[in-house]
Amino acid sequence: MAVSSIHVLAIFSFVLGHCLFLNIEATHHAYRNLQSTVSSSSSNQPYRTGFHFQPSKNWINDPNGPMRYKGLYHLFYQYNPKGAIWGNIVWAHSVSKDLVNWTPLDKAIYPSQPSDINGCWSGSATIFPDGKPAILYTGIDQNNNQVQNLAYPKNASDPYLREWIKIPQNPLMAPASSNGINSSSFRDPTTAWLGKDGHYRVLVGNKRDTTGKALLYRTKDFVHWVKAKHPLYSAKGTGMWECPDFFPVLSKSMFGVDTSFDGPYVRHVLKVSLDDKKHDYYLIGTYDAKKDKFIPDSGFQNLDSFLRYDYGKYYASKTFFDDAKKRRILLGWANESSSVADDLNKGWSGIHAIPRAIWLHKSGKQLVQWPVPEIEKLRAKPISWPIKVLKAGQLLQVTGITAAQADVEVSFEAKGFEKAEVLDYWMDPQVLCSKKGAAVKGELGPFGLLALASKDLKENTAVFFRIFRYQHKPLILFCSDQSRSSLNKNNDLTTYGTFLDVDPSHENLSLRSLIDRSVVESFGGEGKAVITARVYPTLAINDEAQLYVFNYGSANVKITRLNAWSMKKAQIN
Ligand code: FRU
Repeated sequence: MAVSSIHVLAIFSFVLGHCLFLNIEATHHAYRNLQSTVSSSSSNQPYRTGFHFQPSKNWINDPNGPMRYKGLYHLFYQYNPKGAIWGNIVWAHSVSKDLVNWTPLDKAIYPSQPSDINGCWSGSATIFPDGKPAILYTGIDQNNNQVQNLAYPKNASDPYLREWIKIPQNPLMAPASSNGINSSSFRDPTTAWLGKDGHYRVLVGNKRDTTGKALLYRTKDFVHWVKAKHPLYSAKGTGMWECPDFFPVLSKSMFGVDTSFDGPYVRHVLKVSLDDKKHDYYLIGTYDAKKDKFIPDSGFQNLDSFLRYDYGKYYASKTFFDDAKKRRILLGWANESSSVADDLNKGWSGIHAIPRAIWLHKSGKQLVQWPVPEIEKLRAKPISWPIKVLKAGQLLQVTGITAAQADVEVSFEAKGFEKAEVLDYWMDPQVLCSKKGAAVKGELGPFGLLALASKDLKENTAVFFRIFRYQHKPLILFCSDQSRSSLNKNNDLTTYGTFLDVDPSHENLSLRSLIDRSVVESFGGEGKAVITARVYPTLAINDEAQLYVFNYGSANVKITRLNAWSMKKAQIN
């Protein structure tokens, strides 16, 4: 691997024996002596997903270069063909007609020239006005520098885009003493956008010291790129910006627009994957096309108060414009929460979250995300409850569906906010969710779902709401509590949470959870907040998994809607 950029952080014996624990700066752990370990691919696979994307084996991370081309959706992704840990990275490739069922193709981009001989890292696709695509991606070159390369399809009339040609001029953007770019912090080009001057622009993630940056490059011909004097945007203290994404959204419309679209009613979103935090953060703002600057409505002063796509396990996401359905689709990686030893044993690591449509909320203050409607064709055996009161302390089982693989929508009506627990001072919602997990009784809440629950309830993943009173107004806490998700305590059992910008006196509290064996992907407030959890129950697997609604508050709440479905298996490679 990238030897010059590898810093040996620590050497210690690991569960598996005497692994060297290495850290490639600002990237994933590279367990050097395990790089070529053939994964055992145990035949007992209760955690493989039924409808969340994953390859048949091995390690995956970021979605790369998503696009729709000649009627097919293309998904490339970071993949280790040799094992269940990060390393030997190539672009694997799958195609789909519906974003639900995926057919694997041969790997598309793999080390083959000096500018990518040590790895083909993340990047994006751009579709030109003539309809043909190109891919810009990060190569790890012969000197282990991060550089940006261009590839285009060998045969643009092939809707499968099976073969990619790298241009001989690669690399097109490289660190040099003249530009002061750090060769281990320069990666993940975005989809390029076309300015009114006929020049394309692209962003590349970067940092200098602890300042994260979205470096801007311009070109007339897509081959000769010139670095702009100023980054599009940068922020002190945020560390390396991986996988930037920059795209327009329309105010007051759910429709998406092409990445190059600019005009009235357009706002822009800058998303960065913060390597130091391993979360995807975004800002909404204005793109000044003349100055090539992004002016966020509010800056990166305090990260904790910042918006995230997902408050759980979700990283290195990327959007693309789906011209067929005029929507912007978001794809993201949900890494494992299990130990490396368990990953090697199961023979795979990493899944992708369900593709989400993404648009600007009518308030203009945040984005909204919702699973693409295509996923609903997997729904089977519908059940629906009449409106009912869920009494204080009550736990009701949701029967009639396969609880290990399900789609559940539930809404709650709560009243009597004057009785809600008072929050005297602002607290980090994730900390609040950990302190007041599902088992801690309250006034208004906790109420919600116990997913992937065992019959004795020793195992469950609790996704729930709790209502506080803060500055005389109701404040909704939305949590996913993994602390009892598995009897196996070697997993990361962190509890996740966020506040939800919903006024419960005007709107019921809605929750939709996509439950899929080792993932619980939950949408609160009709997609205003999302939490993805990766969990590994030992009892609540296959037909043993149960689903419940619960109310551990001391006030009754009303279930105004409960619809649930078993989810059929998708073709996910
Ligand atoms: C994000 C990332 C990217 C890099 C890729 C390597 O998860 O670290 O910055 O290009 O993964 O696999």
